[in-house]
Amino acid sequence: MNTSDLQQEKALLLQCRSGFESDCAAEIQDRAGRLGIAGYCRAQPGDAHVLFQAYEPEAATRLMAELDFRELIFARQWFVVLAELRELPVSDRAGPVAAAFPLRRARELSLEYPDTNEGKALSAFCRKFSRPLENALTQRGLKLGHPAEPRLHVFFLDSSHAFVGLSDPANSAAWPLGIPRLRMPRQAPSRSTLKLEEALLLFLDEEERDRRLKPGLSAIDLGASPGGWTWQLARRGLRVTAVDNGPMSEEVMATGMVEHLRADGFTYRPEKMVDWLVCDMVEQPSRIAGLMADYLAEGYCREAVFNLKLPMKKRYQAVQDALHLIDRRLRRSGLDFTLACKQLYHDREEVTVHLRRL
Ligand SMILES: C[S@@+](CC[C@H](N)C(=O)[O-])C[C@H]1O[C@@H](n2cnc3c(N)ncnc32)[C@H](O)[C@@H]1O
Repeated sequence: MNTSDLQQEKALLLQCRSGFESDCAAEIQDRAGRLGIAGYCRAQPGDAHVLFQAYEPEAATRLMAELDFRELIFARQWFVVLAELRELPVSDRAGPVAAAFPLRRARELSLEYPDTNEGKALSAFCRKFSRPLENALTQRGLKLGHPAEPRLHVFFLDSSHAFVGLSDPANSAAWPLGIPRLRMPRQAPSRSTLKLEEALLLFLDEEERDRRLKPGLSAIDLGASPGGWTWQLARRGLRVTAVDNGPMSEEVMATGMVEHLRADGFTYRPEKMVDWLVCDMVEQPSRIAGLMADYLAEGYCREAVFNLKLPMKKRYQAVQDALHLIDRRLRRSGLDFTLACKQLYHDREEVTVHLRRL
């Protein structure tokens, strides 16, 4: 990439799940295009990142200012690229990296690498590099620890090749690499419990979690077996109706908060409105989207978290189609609602959606 293009803030680096580069690229091109920002993407399958290259100076900075990061489905983290540094000298890698930041103050430093097997091999290197880099930044007069200032990113492809850039902490992922490190709870019966835990962390803030996920509230879990998602709700004191022909784990049933119904998740309906609906059934995205929209439109639940399992190809389009279906259906019914969608770190070939009646 041409150095002057980078200095003119034309490029945006987006991190994503490995294998979803073309979806991340399709999405940023679509969103940029709708804002009148033309550009193209450099994206290789398996690289776990995408470089969006715009044609106009400062287009990447404008894109970051005008797009809400929470609305991007496939991007885990992003930053405006200031420089691509190749052949960093082994004797002083920190000097050229520090010199690439034209700032006096920043919030924090994030040393990153692609979320791939090769990338993970750089995590120890990044940990070791942070002290020398902080020292080099201090020497250049750049002070960290200013909460309202940008976050500095150094994204290593290998130990001598890195992209350097800036993000707005208020409009980017809070976690390094966009990855929340969650501990697998011992009592939960399946790893997919972490998907719902991450979703609740991402889509609700602390105050909303305290208020909307508290003892005495009710929930339905469609496709609940063996109970990882049900467990997340039961442990917060919600009464859960777990719908699945498969078995529920003994630990989950032992919470005393769960009623297990062996029924079809597509035909089951509760007798009265519940606070939460969660759904992890493996089905066509359009079928799940239609079911979720019905639950909200017909007053069976206040809010929902569900997964859309994605096809092998054109996944961005499949997600868009499912979200449009929900949007159309709920607008027709005159309901005010919020709709958010993200591919979570704990998601695989799927995305997670949060839908809520206002
Ligand atoms: C990915 S698993 C759910 C895992 C669960 N969320 C957990 O954390 O343990 C999908 C479940 O959906 C159930 N399922 C699929 N189609 C269903 C349907 N039509 N009605 C009810 N359950 C269904 C399957 O039996 C399976 O147990």
